Amino acid sequence: MSKVTVIGAGAVGATCANVMACREVADEVVLIDIKEGLSEGKMLDMYQASAVLDCDTKVVGVTNDYSKTAGSDVVVVTSGIPRKPGMTREELIGTNANILKSVVTSAAKYSPRAIFLIVANPMDTMTYLALKSTGLPKNRIIGMGGALDSSRFKCYLAKATGANINDIDGMVIGGHGDTTMIPLLSKATVKGVSVSQFASKKKLQEAVSATMVGGATLTKMIGTSAWYAPGAAAAYMVEAILKDQKKIVPCSCYLDGEYGHSDLCIGVPAVIGRKGIEKIVKIDLTDEEKTRFAESAAAVHKTNAVLREIGAI
Ligand code: NAI
Ligand code: 2OP
Repeated sequence: MSKVTVIGAGAVGATCANVMACREVADEVVLIDIKEGLSEGKMLDMYQASAVLDCDTKVVGVTNDYSKTAGSDVVVVTSGIPRKPGMTREELIGTNANILKSVVTSAAKYSPRAIFLIVANPMDTMTYLALKSTGLPKNRIIGMGGALDSSRFKCYLAKATGANINDIDGMVIGGHGDTTMIPLLSKATVKGVSVSQFASKKKLQEAVSATMVGGATLTKMIGTSAWYAPGAAAAYMVEAILKDQKKIVPCSCYLDGEYGHSDLCIGVPAVIGRKGIEKIVKIDLTDEEKTRFAESAAAVHKTNAVLREIGAI
């Protein structure tokens, strides 16, 4: 019997719950929000969709009652405000830090063995806050950003090369921010063949730039931040955990010397399985990538410092 709780029944949380329900990732999915009736309504809607989608995941919607989340194997945290056009993810810190601390503490009380997947922004800093405020082991607190950014990278590389998106292998590491993420062009392939054989340098660089502002581009077009790929990317990570898939996924992990950095959560490739982060995978970076990773880590440290300034940790 596997159970997942998704906190926040907004765009990303509801999409994540829906993908998990349709794909029968868990036996039970609980969606919880502070807005009266929102989770209940969305889960009733999803249950009705089961009749045409031929899936039978138990779907439960609740308003702020954490007893209903008890015994969850994974808790996905999407509660918080999203950015509006022109806003950075970092501007959300004050509001989202308060929300994150309260929901993670409540959920951990009822699901002491759960693995936490943090989605709320600024995600690397919220992941660090979850770790510091719960004292849970570092393998059980994971930030979701790299899975999404890598799917955006694959999308733009598919456009640049004309290849099928599912034949592209590409990874984005570093912070989940417009200037801090690092799409690893040097490692990107189409079925194992370097992308440089399929597109010009200029087109590939354009794919890198489009990836880095991928979230901002959608926020400008839609008026709020995106949810289909973010919700699906979170569900993909939950599936890797529950099914012990040992997939290598770039995600925000607490570093304790790995990649030459410590005391922060930032995107690196990791083996994801039933224990959460089972291993941080070391990949060889070019000198330029190493420099960019150091700059990214410095920016994440700077945002984490705000947590101390506002007394969140
Ligand atoms: P949304 O506004 O649609 O949903 C947020 C939900 O959280 C709302 O329904 C709200 O009522 C709920 N909420 C607020 N306080 C709560 C509390 N104390 N307890 C329970 N629920 C609470 O926002 P959306 O678009 O779903 O985004 C959610 C977060 O995810 C934002 O911070 C956004 O920036 C972030 N995000 C992160 C991504 C990533 O890759 N890490 C990608 C996309 C969004
Ligand atoms: C995104 O990347 C804003 O983190 C959000 O879509």
